[in-house]
Amino acid sequence: MEGEFKAGFPTEIVQEGKVKVLAPKLSAFVTQPTDYAPSKAPVFYNPVMELNRDIAILAFQAYQRMINREITLCEPLAGTGIRGIRFAAEIQGAKSVLIGDVSERAVELAGYNARLNGLQERVTVQHEDANRLLSDHAAPHRRFDAIDVDPFGSPVLYLDSAIRALRDNGLLAVTATDLAPLCGVHPKACVRKYGGKPLRAEYCHELAVRLLAGCIAAVAAKHDIGIRVVFSHSTDHYIRVYAQIVYGAKKADASVKSLGYILHCFNCLHREAAKALFAKSVECPECGSKMDYAGPLWLKNIFDKGFCELMTKENMHRALRNSLKIAKLLSTAKEEAEAPATYYVLDKISDKLALPVPAVNAVLQVLRDNGFTAVPTHFNSRGIRTDAPALVVQKLVQRLVAIA
Ligand SMILES: C[S@@+](CC[C@H](N)C(=O)[O-])C[C@H]1O[C@@H](n2cnc3c(N)ncnc32)[C@H](O)[C@@H]1O
Ligand SMILES: [Zn+2]
Repeated sequence: MEGEFKAGFPTEIVQEGKVKVLAPKLSAFVTQPTDYAPSKAPVFYNPVMELNRDIAILAFQAYQRMINREITLCEPLAGTGIRGIRFAAEIQGAKSVLIGDVSERAVELAGYNARLNGLQERVTVQHEDANRLLSDHAAPHRRFDAIDVDPFGSPVLYLDSAIRALRDNGLLAVTATDLAPLCGVHPKACVRKYGGKPLRAEYCHELAVRLLAGCIAAVAAKHDIGIRVVFSHSTDHYIRVYAQIVYGAKKADASVKSLGYILHCFNCLHREAAKALFAKSVECPECGSKMDYAGPLWLKNIFDKGFCELMTKENMHRALRNSLKIAKLLSTAKEEAEAPATYYVLDKISDKLALPVPAVNAVLQVLRDNGFTAVPTHFNSRGIRTDAPALVVQKLVQRLVAIA
């Protein structure tokens, strides 16, 4: 079987999860140390995204358990096919997976990989532009239960057709790797693409998740569809949002109501959520400085505790290469689910106060001892979510460092 396919470029067999696939031999496509091998290869393949794919499998499996019937899945930007093929091989109750790619070479390779794993009956590979493929499945009887939009760059071009191709209560997973706009390095591009203003604050990765979720909510609302964000994460160079869609104008109204702004004071680090902006500048209630803002973005939950628990259960049943890392991520996300939006980063506070950085656990403890909610965040290993005001956090850090 392995000898039957001639890719016409250097390849190798890689093993991931329960499948083995033929993928570009990345070392053959790096000519300079700065080359990004996955996009240099004739077919896109990034081994670092294994964690992203593992988590997708847990999320879709959790969703399948939740609705308790067979599900149909679609991955319209598939590359080697590794993700969609893993869905078919590893998600119990995955009835069929449709994968597509605009690149002919990718489609040939993905088709071969489906056959290599004996999954050609349940994995269909189509040579098609993602929006055309999804639009072809917008009719009620052709829609999917779950769609994974995993492009290189921004996913915004595919959101509308992905939402139209989902059944009521379907699950949409979206990757965004364009963190420069989303984290405020290129704010104009973010406003253009996501319809919201980013901020270069220390919690910009959470803002990125909220901007993407807000964009999904706004696109869905046009179709009288509401969303519920069940899980999200920020890892390495990308963010992911998992949103369950729910049909109905009232549901759409409720999700539009979940949009708003995060106001931020770059002077004292105060931040607060706001439902609306006014023409006049907003003064920081703690120090009186003029505040900046991010948004409109998603203000409601970006994790669902119950969904994280379902994913944790699925993770325990599997021997994924990233199991431990995922268990830690899920347990932190569970704690974060009901904690306040935004987090403080201890480096930023210490920098401001010209003090050494204290241990995260010590700061968490001192905040709790003073009656505040305080939990860590997966977004930053030295980040803390708390309902304590910015100046109180700084005072407590100061005190802690003084007695250390
Ligand atoms: C980041 S790669 C996908 C990686 C894959 N999801 C995985 O987990 O390995 C993005 C893929 O999208 C394909 N692509 C780009 N524009 C497309 C379009 N308009 N329609 C369909 N596929 C497209 C590229 O050829 C590339 O294979
Ligand atoms: Zn302030």
